[in-house]
Amino acid sequence: MQVLTIATPGGLENILNNEVDPPTPGAGEVLVRWKATSLNYHDYLVAAGGIPVADGRVPMSDGAGVIEALGDGVSEWEVGDKVMSLFFPDWLDGDASAANTAAVTGDSVDGFAREFSCEKAVSLTSIPKSYTFAEAATLPCAALTAWRGLVVEGNLKAGDTVLIQGSGGMSVFGLQIAKAAGAYVYATTSSDKKAERLQALGADHVINYKEDEKWGKTIAKLSGGVDHILDVGGPSTLEHSVEAVGFGGKISLIGVLGGRKGEFVLPKMFFKHASMNGIAVGSRAMQQDLVRAIDVAEFKPVIDRSFALTELADAFRHQESGAHFGKIVLEY
Ligand SMILES: NC(=O)c1ccc[n+]([C@@H]2O[C@H](COP(=O)([O-])OP(=O)(O)OC[C@H]3O[C@@H](n4cnc5c(N)ncnc54)[C@H](OP(=O)(O)O)[C@@H]3O)[C@@H](O)[C@H]2O)c1
Repeated sequence: MQVLTIATPGGLENILNNEVDPPTPGAGEVLVRWKATSLNYHDYLVAAGGIPVADGRVPMSDGAGVIEALGDGVSEWEVGDKVMSLFFPDWLDGDASAANTAAVTGDSVDGFAREFSCEKAVSLTSIPKSYTFAEAATLPCAALTAWRGLVVEGNLKAGDTVLIQGSGGMSVFGLQIAKAAGAYVYATTSSDKKAERLQALGADHVINYKEDEKWGKTIAKLSGGVDHILDVGGPSTLEHSVEAVGFGGKISLIGVLGGRKGEFVLPKMFFKHASMNGIAVGSRAMQQDLVRAIDVAEFKPVIDRSFALTELADAFRHQESGAHFGKIVLEY
């Protein structure tokens, strides 16, 4: 089988392609034949050396595939079941803790840039009924994060206002989930062409943040204050999110596209009684709820482009260019 690994110190030129024998599942494990993965900014940071990982780490936190064999004692899956991975393979239910979020696929433990692996049977969920493997592989990191920010932590209701930022994988899922729930969606993006695509997906008001430098204030004026914001930029967006958020609104701190430290005017948060909370993906139970929601709401991920497994570095270069809209996948 083929498996890609990252050689220390990382960098796209240090993604290696290896041939190894497929493993055999132990007790409580299943053998999965992975068919697709998708690129997240986190995977890019790992591959590019921005997040140091062990030499020989298998990258990619997202996988979708089919169960090929069962280890002893596995009763919840059958051979042929279509499954997807978890970003936190040990966070099954309940609250996050240091213990259940220590293992991160494609980072502190091996991920899914490989054709086969043995996984704990509990560290998988089903995929949505109408989804291909490529579509399912877009969900475990990006869609689950948007779902958690808006639905699990945000208690999003029909009629609420939502702000999504940029047209990357997580944000486009935020738009789709918000529209499926009956929310009014503000969106920002860097180009008029991407703005048209966001509108075609249901965004109610789109702002080009390169043309409107005070876009947070503009959205505050238009909306009277937004109920839910998925912040992806940190220093490039947080100040605007704090302007745009409404009384009692919620800012989900999700991304670091603009850097790792941010500044904002503190009273603007507390005089609006607004809250800010850190979101790191979600649990297996949240992922199962997301799948149930997609089976009813039936929205499909926006797949920008598909590459082969061995083209991972090219796929990251495409992501790096910022030309993509939605998700980039590898199919194998
Ligand atoms: N905390 C979590 O659990 C979690 C989970 C998923 C993602 N994230 C984070 O969320 C962010 C987005 O991740 P992703 O995988 O969706 O990325 P992605 O698919 O690579 O999307 C990036 C997009 O964001 C926009 N953008 C780029 N630089 C920006 C900047 N400085 N300020 C504002 N927008 C910018 C661009 O869209 P436009 O051209 O349309 O502006 C770009 O295409 C990353 O920081 C990632 O680490 C966090």
